[in-house]
Amino acid sequence: MSVYAVIMAGGKGERLWPASTRARPKPFLPLGREGKSLIQATYDRVLPLTGRERLYVVTESALALQVKAALGLADARLLVEPQGRNTAPAIGLAALAVSLADPEGIMIALPADHLIEDEVTFRKALQAAVEAAQEGHLVTLGIEPSCPATGYGYIQRGELLGSSHGHDIFKVKRFTEKPDEDTAQRFLSEGGYYWNSGIFVWRAARILEEINRFLPKLAQALKKLAGLWGTPGWEAALRGSWQEVEATSIDYGVMERAEDVVVVPASFGWHDLGDWQAVWEVFPRDENGVAVRGEHLGMDTARALIWARPGKTVATLGVSNVAIVDTQDALLVAALARSQQVRELARQAQPAPPEWDELFKLDTSGMLEVVAGFPDQCRKGLELGEEVDLPQGLSGFSRVLCVGMGGSGITGDLLGRFLSIPVIPCRGYRVPSYIGEETLLIGVSYSGNTEETLSAFQEGLSRTRRALAISSGGKLRELCASRKIPWIGIPGGYQPRAALGYLLFTLLSVLRRLGAAHLDLKEALATLAEQAKALGPASPGNQAQTIARALAGGVPLIYGTYGNTGPVAFRWKTQINENAKQPAFWAELPELCHNEIVGWELAERVLPGGRVVFLRTGHDHPRVQARIEILKEVLLRRGLSYLEVEGEGKSEAAQLFSLLYLGDWVSVYLALLNGVDPTPVRPIQELKERLARL
Ligand code: PA5
Repeated sequence: MSVYAVIMAGGKGERLWPASTRARPKPFLPLGREGKSLIQATYDRVLPLTGRERLYVVTESALALQVKAALGLADARLLVEPQGRNTAPAIGLAALAVSLADPEGIMIALPADHLIEDEVTFRKALQAAVEAAQEGHLVTLGIEPSCPATGYGYIQRGELLGSSHGHDIFKVKRFTEKPDEDTAQRFLSEGGYYWNSGIFVWRAARILEEINRFLPKLAQALKKLAGLWGTPGWEAALRGSWQEVEATSIDYGVMERAEDVVVVPASFGWHDLGDWQAVWEVFPRDENGVAVRGEHLGMDTARALIWARPGKTVATLGVSNVAIVDTQDALLVAALARSQQVRELARQAQPAPPEWDELFKLDTSGMLEVVAGFPDQCRKGLELGEEVDLPQGLSGFSRVLCVGMGGSGITGDLLGRFLSIPVIPCRGYRVPSYIGEETLLIGVSYSGNTEETLSAFQEGLSRTRRALAISSGGKLRELCASRKIPWIGIPGGYQPRAALGYLLFTLLSVLRRLGAAHLDLKEALATLAEQAKALGPASPGNQAQTIARALAGGVPLIYGTYGNTGPVAFRWKTQINENAKQPAFWAELPELCHNEIVGWELAERVLPGGRVVFLRTGHDHPRVQARIEILKEVLLRRGLSYLEVEGEGKSEAAQLFSLLYLGDWVSVYLALLNGVDPTPVRPIQELKERLARL
């Protein structure tokens, strides 16, 4: 009979707003010992009882990436609810996972956002609770109350059943929801009452039985899910059923109604950190009662909590009984004693995020549909490349020069990833001086009218007779006709960046015929088709939407790897720029280990919204993979968040294109979260128009 722990990580980011927010609620605040986040502290605290293999975290999809990154958690240990539905469904899901892993498994369920001072006693209390759970009881940890608090539920103990690990075990007589002050006072004077800690221990199978008895909709959903565990149908089934399950707490839904509930009273310096006053109470304070995080300059300041943001000093003069919390999003100045009401402000400041269906209306020019059509474009591009007339004299080149800008220019970078000869992308008016007859010159311009591309292409034609071009028309087409150069026409009406399937796959097909590309794209095309379904608007809460939510409001730093995902990282950056209309940057490993990482030192101060995204495939050099693991630790230490995304499928092409396609979807969803239409790129057009007038 093994012991498992399940940490429940959620929250609305209301009580400790603005330091905690909907996107980064309380478990992620550095309120644990040695500046650890509360979730990290919780994880480390239970680890000695279970080991990594038996420690799960259950969270909602909006927080999943953050949880994974914060704890370096393996996917199999992360249980993701489509949306938070209070503690009963979260516990039900976790109990299912535990019981499938070990039908006899004992499960400790605990919130991710408590502060505990005496960890040794905490673990002893849990060991006592585990022993009681082994006998079949539903066990709850009760906290010895130190004051008549009205913010907690109370548990009244009944008969003493025994003791273990220095802790008594009592039958529970009654649960009482948060009482009024008089009642709380009476509980304290009578004795035999404990605060409900929200920490429970039971056999997973036992809590599932109770859920069966009291929460029929949840029980039904769990039964259906049990057969789908670990299969591709899991996510859709979970999404389909989760709206229907009872959104209730485990206390109210089960514990208050069940038979045979016991309490293990304990005293281990437990703090729920329910508001800023509670934080002030546990923080170290100076002789005037001033608790500080960050830089504070104070004169005649007393009984205050100061929470400054990195790189900014909070200065106070002649104030007292106050909480001052400064963050990137908001500055809170509140009477300490009225901290409970901060949640009302938080609700006004962070209205519920708009539903995707509402946001889709911003896409007036249909970018979502175009992105959904990408796999089809790729397939058509391959077919088109098969049909193009290729004159005899084209082959025999030993390198390719691909001239093109922006959404067209990326074609050169991506071609380079798959050709057996060098590909030089050329983004400018001139071609490199070393270009000659051994070079195949390719002009790529979706519109066919980009002046840099036309200029470089023309210059290239004076150096080599091996040339071809691809566009939807424009001056490039005319130039090719007048110089009798093969021109490949692709359908018009797209944004250049949204025609990548045509541009790239047509050229891949042509270059394959010319003997310069040897690749099998079957798996890649099948993977893209699957992704089109999984990442599209018809799959709410999908991976791309989740990533977009995690990036929203920040500055993405997209990291790829040299010789592999570098061009894809660049594509993510440019798609985020053009679709989501916001800054984004990219870099490559291992190079970034030699410069960019030093820039992280002050990132928390100068780029607090920086969000690193590692693009990963199984095809990176093992030392590069090892570097990523180290970088993740460094980022966490610096308080910077990161996400990791893995390519799909097995082949290099499938992994690369699936990452690229994921980035396209992310950029469009991010546009919608930014409140902008992804399609128009006015600044690019305006610049081109101004130049044309010169
Ligand atoms: O995405 C865009 O609209 C731009 O980056 C264009 O691709 C860039 O300006 C070059 O235009 P074209 O692709 O038509 O040559």
